[in-house]
Amino acid sequence: MCGIAGYVGPRNAKTVVLEGLKRLEYRGYDSAGIAFLDQHDLLHIARVKGRLHNLTDRFRNDLDSAPAAIGHTRWATHGVPCEKNAHPHRSADGEIAVVHNGIVENYQELRSQLQGNGYVFASDTDTEVIAHLIHYNWKSRKTSDLVDAVRATLRKLKGSSAIVVLSTLRPDTLIAARLGNAGGVVIGYGENEMYVASDIPAILKHTCRVAFLENGELAVVTPSGAAYSDSSGTPIIKHPVKIEWDAAAAEKGSFAHYMLKEIFEQEQSLTDTLRGRIDISRNQVRLDMLNMTDSVARRLSGVTIVACGSSYYAGLLGKQLIERLTGLHVEVDFGSEFRYRHPVLDENRLVLAITQSGETTDTLAALEEARERKAFTASIVSVVGSQAARVSDGVIYMQVGPEIGVATTKAFTASLVDLYLLAVFLGTARGTLDTNRRAELIRNIATLPRLVGKTLESMQHSGVIEAVASKYTDRANFLYLGRGLHYPIALEGALKLKEISYIHAEGYPAGEMKHGPIALIDERMPTVVIAPKDSLHEKMVSQIEQVKARNGAVIALATQDDTETAHKVDDVVWLLNAPEMLTPILAAIPLQLLAYEIAVRRGTDIDHPRNLAKSVTVE
Ligand code: AGP
Repeated sequence: MCGIAGYVGPRNAKTVVLEGLKRLEYRGYDSAGIAFLDQHDLLHIARVKGRLHNLTDRFRNDLDSAPAAIGHTRWATHGVPCEKNAHPHRSADGEIAVVHNGIVENYQELRSQLQGNGYVFASDTDTEVIAHLIHYNWKSRKTSDLVDAVRATLRKLKGSSAIVVLSTLRPDTLIAARLGNAGGVVIGYGENEMYVASDIPAILKHTCRVAFLENGELAVVTPSGAAYSDSSGTPIIKHPVKIEWDAAAAEKGSFAHYMLKEIFEQEQSLTDTLRGRIDISRNQVRLDMLNMTDSVARRLSGVTIVACGSSYYAGLLGKQLIERLTGLHVEVDFGSEFRYRHPVLDENRLVLAITQSGETTDTLAALEEARERKAFTASIVSVVGSQAARVSDGVIYMQVGPEIGVATTKAFTASLVDLYLLAVFLGTARGTLDTNRRAELIRNIATLPRLVGKTLESMQHSGVIEAVASKYTDRANFLYLGRGLHYPIALEGALKLKEISYIHAEGYPAGEMKHGPIALIDERMPTVVIAPKDSLHEKMVSQIEQVKARNGAVIALATQDDTETAHKVDDVVWLLNAPEMLTPILAAIPLQLLAYEIAVRRGTDIDHPRNLAKSVTVE
């Protein structure tokens, strides 16, 4: 959603903030803007519609330094993308500038009240009410304390919001606040300089010492540090934590796109995911931060997985793994559906959120619901210190570093590995896995990173994905079929293609094809079939026959040397022979590459797909 960057300190704040915004481009946006104080403490604002370079171009030859600035990339919710609706928004007297992520649900009511008090609005956004309301509170309370005015304003806002304020009334200061779950607010610590951002990558180049704002908290940030308080104004002591991310991991390097870099990183990223988690000699899976004792694991009556998008699909595979290894019943729900369906929960249920960003509003709301119902909550998360990690009883980090591509790749496969580890962990604690089976599962997962590396190498050398992509780039629709463990991978493959190539694609459980989607099959409709040599292989072959009988083109993901299947289909992508529970992870890789290569040929903006944002922080 919206990206926020802010800086106070001795360097040129405009440059630091624009650079920070550049690193947030992956969030997706439709306009951008910056507010800064000049050397005379006068406030200036520049805003543009469209890409960030439209804004940075304006400052190309600008050498005047600025001691403080805030910047924003906007993903429109209220008001169309245009210059007047771009952030920062300012108060009528021009002294207060605000950037905002989230939605002010009662903005109409506040807008009318402010209009009644003579305020004139210059935009169609909900954000503008925040700027005017701060001004109103500051004036009407006759307080010289801008922080009080911001706090009074926050008390009036309904919904979830993250804001940063810059004002001539308090130069050299940024006021940042978080209300609800509308995305994170990260405070970065430098040497006599401080940063504020919605996401860590915006400031990672400068510092890895950060603190996070919780719901209701406010930070007064000056070059020498930050003072924190809660919604009532009571001071809070917060110590910065060290983020173990490598700044180079947030760079594209020699790759054409972040997405491609992240696909090819997966041998390493999965090695990192497994680091410290498996001990072959002791036949152990360690998930220390899950904070779950064996007796809690034994008491569990079931598991509910909540997630959105690709993380939801990961959850569908997780369900099968956990059910196979633990005998526990697992249900999977979309974060956006969960809390509205009156779920049945008790304290013996594990509610597991899967969220790469740890900031997805719908998933966080589901977690909140589970906490209220006293369930044991855990999260599989990538971003260290994100909201999901902080509010859960336990956490399993993906340990893959920052993922910049909007279309998730390495975080998706990491979440599958975390789910596999969780299944083994629960099976061990509950006594449903005997020693030999556990040893086999642990040995198998240890081989996964190398299998992923080999898969990537073979895709690269054979050129098969490029060839398939070139053949089908012009198609308007795709069908993806999988069964059992591969059904969630079919869903994910279709989502990848949709997201970055804008081709309509549907993932389907293969057995369901004859109940409807078969009507779509003709010579223009390619079907991607995940058909490795496993227990369901024969059923998949029969689906292939059914598509071929209707003149549909079939692209099969088949186990190496399965020439029989290869002869039946139009194109074949070989999968390595691997243990059954690892094959879905290996199958995800060629589907990521296929979506990427098709998108390249269609000339789409792969790292910034239209309308999409890396983390969805609105409902
Ligand atoms: C995946 O490619 C998507 N960008 C999207 O579906 C994503 O998985 C979803 O928004 C959930 O995000 P999260 O894992 O950060 O919660």
